[in-house]
Amino acid sequence: MRQIVLAGNWKMHTTLSEAVSLARAVDHCIREQSLPSHYSVLLCPPFPFLEPVRQVIQHPSLFLGAQNLYPGDAGAFTGEVSAPMLRSVGCTYVIVGHSERRKIFGETNDLINAKIASARTHQLVPILCVGETWEERAAGKTEAVIEEQLRSGLADISLHHPGELLIAYEPVWAIGTGHAATPEQAQVVHRWIRHWLAQHYGADFADGTPILYGGSVKPANAADLLAQPDIDGALVGGASLKAESFCAIIQAALPS
Ligand code: 13P
Repeated sequence: MRQIVLAGNWKMHTTLSEAVSLARAVDHCIREQSLPSHYSVLLCPPFPFLEPVRQVIQHPSLFLGAQNLYPGDAGAFTGEVSAPMLRSVGCTYVIVGHSERRKIFGETNDLINAKIASARTHQLVPILCVGETWEERAAGKTEAVIEEQLRSGLADISLHHPGELLIAYEPVWAIGTGHAATPEQAQVVHRWIRHWLAQHYGADFADGTPILYGGSVKPANAADLLAQPDIDGALVGGASLKAESFCAIIQAALPS
């Protein structure tokens, strides 16, 4: 059965005490909800709070992820954080290729590819973010943009088993805008991504790979988005910063 993943990307938010309280509250809320075994919840705090957040995580289905990594193991790379470092503080996932990193920090598909390779080498599951801008969508280029992000992001990465990679479809125009893609708009792209995965990695891999939706997910729209057959979870920004709204999203994702 395909894994359902509800992930909170805290971006550059929270202080130490806020991060710890938020993680505690999410841990508490999922303990109250008897999560089915194919559900995972993932917290991606800022780097300095990974270890303190790890310390308060108790639920076996609550995992720790990083928001970024540098594709080298160690060395003179001031300010960077490597996959072995992330492993050593208990991360199992890492977000790669978020549109904010692509746009604000100029990350290219080649750099993203190197990050994915490094994550895989060190047994971190990369969450590869893909998505088009509004202009690209309006010009009918959604699939072409995502195809390029997938093709070059995953070039020469060997993938055999579902669970070795997560994809997050995050339309750039829906991130932080309050205007999520409609469930139908998202489903069309998710199905296309699964088809692409099937062509390149086989039907079993595509079938079992969770494809998350991200972009203005909130309690009010989560159930409809997650009801789509190819939407296997959510990568949540703003609404993951309050335990109440993140828990409501998790609840909305549970089978009724
Ligand atoms: P918002 O949920 O705030 O739109 O952010 C989405 C996102 O970028 C998650 O990675």
